[in-house]
Amino acid sequence: MNKKLILIKTEKYVRDKLKNEGSGHDWWHVHRVSNTALSIAKREGADLFIVELGALLHDIADYKFHGGDSTVGPRIASEWLLSLGADKDTLNHIKHIIQHVSFKGAAVKSRMKTLEGKIIQDADRLDAIGAIGIARAFTYGGFRKNQLLYDPSGTIKKHRSFSEYKRKSTASTIHHFYEKLLLLKDLMNTKTGKKLAQHRHAFMERYLKQFFEEWEGRK
Ligand code: ADP
Ligand code: NI
Repeated sequence: MNKKLILIKTEKYVRDKLKNEGSGHDWWHVHRVSNTALSIAKREGADLFIVELGALLHDIADYKFHGGDSTVGPRIASEWLLSLGADKDTLNHIKHIIQHVSFKGAAVKSRMKTLEGKIIQDADRLDAIGAIGIARAFTYGGFRKNQLLYDPSGTIKKHRSFSEYKRKSTASTIHHFYEKLLLLKDLMNTKTGKKLAQHRHAFMERYLKQFFEEWEGRK
């Protein structure tokens, strides 16, 4: 198994596949997640090959764009890795990571088992918060067409299961902050991830304060 070649080919494959993705899961998201994951991995002493490979493939076929089917991503990734001659352990590890990386609702515990997977999950979640996270949330809201920026009459839902999270659409993009984004800092797996998350979280709180002041015409 030629690790270097697998990484080069996979990067090209993902770049081509996601370059025109318009919901915030585009190639540059993957690129940022890879970089962040690698930098966390170096500090946490994880397997850098698995971390980079898993980060590159983590959004290859998101359930949201495949009728809610979470099995498509792991399947496409394993077909791809088989075609490159990756070994069975690598294949199973990457499949596990893709299967468990996504946020599945406020009250749903993640079943990610390995350090490498936990690091990728932290990096993916870091890209959902802070300045970039705010931009991605509104991009995603616009992509969904009829999702409002904010709707004061809507309620915040604490989703208890993945099916509920998938089924019940959020009242507005600002509601998504309370249903997911502001919860992420306490769900970080690694020490390094937690530290980075605190900084980004504080920025979102400042943003929301200003947002509501403007909403009410106070600032
Ligand atoms: P994960 O990386 O856990 O799979 P998603 O793919 O659900 O997360 O989300 C990707 C990006 O889209 C994140 O930045 C997320 O906050 C945003 N997003 C997801 N659902 C919504 C929503 N209903 N409204 C606004 N933004 C959303
Ligand atoms: Ni992602």
